[in-house]
Amino acid sequence: MRSFYIETYGCQMNVSDSEIVNAILVGEGLTPVRDAESADVILLNTCAIRDNAERKVWERLKSLRSLRRGQSDRVLGVLGCMAERIREQVMEKEKLVDLVVGPDAYRDIPALLREVDDGRKAVNVILSLEETYADITPVRTSGNGVSAFVSVMRGCDNMCSFCVVPFTRGRERSRPIASVLDEVKQLAEAGYKEVTLLGQNVNSYNDNGLRFAELMYRVSQVDPEMRVRFSTSHPKDFPDELLHVIAERPNVCNSIHIPAQSGSDSVLQRMRRPYTRAEYLALIGRMRELIPGLSLSTDIITGFCGETEAEHAETVSLMAEVRFDLAYLFAYSERERTLAHRKYADDVPSDVKQRRLQEIIDTHRKGSERLNLAEIGTTHLVLVENVSRRREDQLSGRTDTNKVVIFDRTDVGIGDYVEVAVTGATSATLFADPIRKSSIAEFNAVYG
Ligand code: SAH
Ligand code: SF4
Ligand code: F3S
Repeated sequence: MRSFYIETYGCQMNVSDSEIVNAILVGEGLTPVRDAESADVILLNTCAIRDNAERKVWERLKSLRSLRRGQSDRVLGVLGCMAERIREQVMEKEKLVDLVVGPDAYRDIPALLREVDDGRKAVNVILSLEETYADITPVRTSGNGVSAFVSVMRGCDNMCSFCVVPFTRGRERSRPIASVLDEVKQLAEAGYKEVTLLGQNVNSYNDNGLRFAELMYRVSQVDPEMRVRFSTSHPKDFPDELLHVIAERPNVCNSIHIPAQSGSDSVLQRMRRPYTRAEYLALIGRMRELIPGLSLSTDIITGFCGETEAEHAETVSLMAEVRFDLAYLFAYSERERTLAHRKYADDVPSDVKQRRLQEIIDTHRKGSERLNLAEIGTTHLVLVENVSRRREDQLSGRTDTNKVVIFDRTDVGIGDYVEVAVTGATSATLFADPIRKSSIAEFNAVYG
């Protein structure tokens, strides 16, 4: 039997896509294996968001080349967001791979593999206006049987000036609600306790007029003991209805990822992010008002084209003012084809980008540490996800507010809910004492 191995880089969408490819290959009779060394077909699902993401993939491709020496029947392929961009170089110039497949062409992989078997190089990087893989049930490889990603839309039409995603993943399209609900039902029946609905901007979800807040509401009704999360929301169009769904449904988690990118109006304008700092702050205020105990996370880019010290200082002050629970912080990396590449110079020197990045990291850490220290003495419902990496006698999981909690092992196992009392904290982790095994309904009856 032919075997395959998929290595995934980049965001949750890519993790989800790899699970779709997995399903397609298993459907063709191939067997998944745990490492590249023992696989007949090796696939890298790649990310193009920043230069360092691409560099990692190049290094891996080069190290895999040695695996193939003397084994010409072993297939190496590139999937995902780098596919279109690098196909000429990897295939024709460097002859590193036999197969290149873009994010909308995964159904074609079996046919492409047959072409490779016939001695040809196989490519399909065509982007689609319709493909949502709605009828394919992903074979889950992530999340421990507890937590699953469900993609509800693909592509992006926002065209932020720094971002390559609209070019790598094409136009925005929504997956029909019935297929989302079916998948969530199957996951609930299989014992999953958490789903995260995925899209580049879930607030653009639109299935014949049915919008994201309604989708979330219906997903939350599938199983009241299943947690529901979502990612990502764009600040330009966050609807109040969604805040009400989060506030009112006990199993919809009180945590929102809302990338600001910058705290400066002029930078936001150059980024083509159609909101101001004041509007962003007003939205955060509204969120916190409607959802007490809400946790917030964000993405920030430092050193974007033309960013001055004064503009940077506005981002630092935004971070200090909001105090995010979690933040993903990046130095700007110029991407070909984007508007910023065509229109602006990447003129902030890399040492300045790095220094500004460090200032943002420090500001964020101070804020999140204070937020986490304030959690000491509070009670949370934790969904147990893992045995702690450091100590076998400890378990880890997340709160409703998406904070990682570590606590001593008791009679609970992976996939159980446990009530815990927080006893300690760092800027990234909470430590707690387990109190009792619980459920969303029980916990909510006492603390809700
Ligand atoms: N659709 C999501 C973002 C997906 S990309 C959203 O709009 O929120 C994830 C993050 O990568 C972005 O939020 C941004 O902060 C960062 N990013 C995107 N392009 C980048 C670039 N060229 N350089 C550095 N960071 C970038
Ligand atoms: Fe990129 Fe902007 Fe789309 Fe997010 S919303 S994927 S940052 S273009
Ligand atoms: Fe995700 Fe990277 Fe593509 S962040 S959408 S895998 S470019």
